[in-house]
Amino acid sequence: MLKTLLLGASILAITTAAQAATATRSDFGTAGGAKVEAVTLTNAAGMSARIMTLGATLQSLLVADKAGKKEDVVLGYDTAQEYLSRPNYFGASIGRYANRIAKGKFSLDGKAYTLETNDGPNSLHGGSKGFDKQMWKIESVSSGADARVVFSYVSADGEAGFPGELKVTATYSLNEQNELKLEYRATTSKPTVLNLTNHSYFNLSGNDARDVMGNLVTLHAEKFTPVDATLIPTGERKPVAGSPFDFRSAHRVGDRIRDARDAQIRYGRGYDHNFIVDGAPGTVRPAAMVEEPVSGRVLEVSVSAPGIQFYTGNFLDGTFFGKAGRSYRQGDSICLEPGVFPDAPNHPDFATARLNPGQSYLNTIVYKFSAK
Ligand code: BGC
Repeated sequence: MLKTLLLGASILAITTAAQAATATRSDFGTAGGAKVEAVTLTNAAGMSARIMTLGATLQSLLVADKAGKKEDVVLGYDTAQEYLSRPNYFGASIGRYANRIAKGKFSLDGKAYTLETNDGPNSLHGGSKGFDKQMWKIESVSSGADARVVFSYVSADGEAGFPGELKVTATYSLNEQNELKLEYRATTSKPTVLNLTNHSYFNLSGNDARDVMGNLVTLHAEKFTPVDATLIPTGERKPVAGSPFDFRSAHRVGDRIRDARDAQIRYGRGYDHNFIVDGAPGTVRPAAMVEEPVSGRVLEVSVSAPGIQFYTGNFLDGTFFGKAGRSYRQGDSICLEPGVFPDAPNHPDFATARLNPGQSYLNTIVYKFSAK
């Protein structure tokens, strides 16, 4: 009896171990002469995410299609060095301020700060040496009900022009429900502004087989924030109803992306806009869904942030050659970047980007995959 019980228990243990999601560390070459490491999170179903220390970057994401075939659904490069030398932010963790700050200027408590302008007149994604170009440290790696890795980075007071020493962690975890969860946390030594996010370029066709024009996109957003010609919000919160920005029910990306009668489409060269996610910021709630009809892959994005930038890779011009040996062009991918609104430090009526000492910042993003 005891023997049977023990046998039963050990079978259970083996089954549990076999089903556990695992995290494994490996080398990922070098970038700028420095060693880069990667952690691969794999669940029992075989979905797997590889994240590297350079930029705490999601470098590959293998997801099953409706026939169970696993293929990579994010754009990127084969080598860490390419991520360091190219300006695309593929899969990277973005900081200190994802998206734009007008003219690279803001003030806090009466003091003016100046940032690098690396996107026409504006500052984009924390400048040309943002968090995506920094080497993050692996704090912990664990396997179990979910597989998990925690990366950390300490941004010195004044780095890239921002005040306060910022201590940041990026946690990636993968569970058996095919949810890849990202949590960006931060604390600061002085009042500062920040907007941390992930900049994955999704192409659910797998290995970039097709462009995204036929993808069906749903955005849970009644309103978006229109921009000027340099992609800085005008301050308006505009209802999407009756415009190419109405994705409250699913629409093909390509159906209205060339509607040049809409100035917003002209400014963005397509979609490159912040949508105001319905519901209460701070609670994780549905923000977006993408369906790729041929592979059947579906991505659902839930966020805690007030906004989500929907960007269709409009500035990819065919001169970047990615993992699958393809040149990346406009419309080859969809970015869904949750955060506070662009240029929030210069818009007092937008949800605040401010963090004070003693407060803790958290931006939670859940990417859930399925196939139908
Ligand atoms: C911006 C785009 C920019 C891209 C760079 C996006 O977040 O909205 O305008 O070109 O990042 O990768």
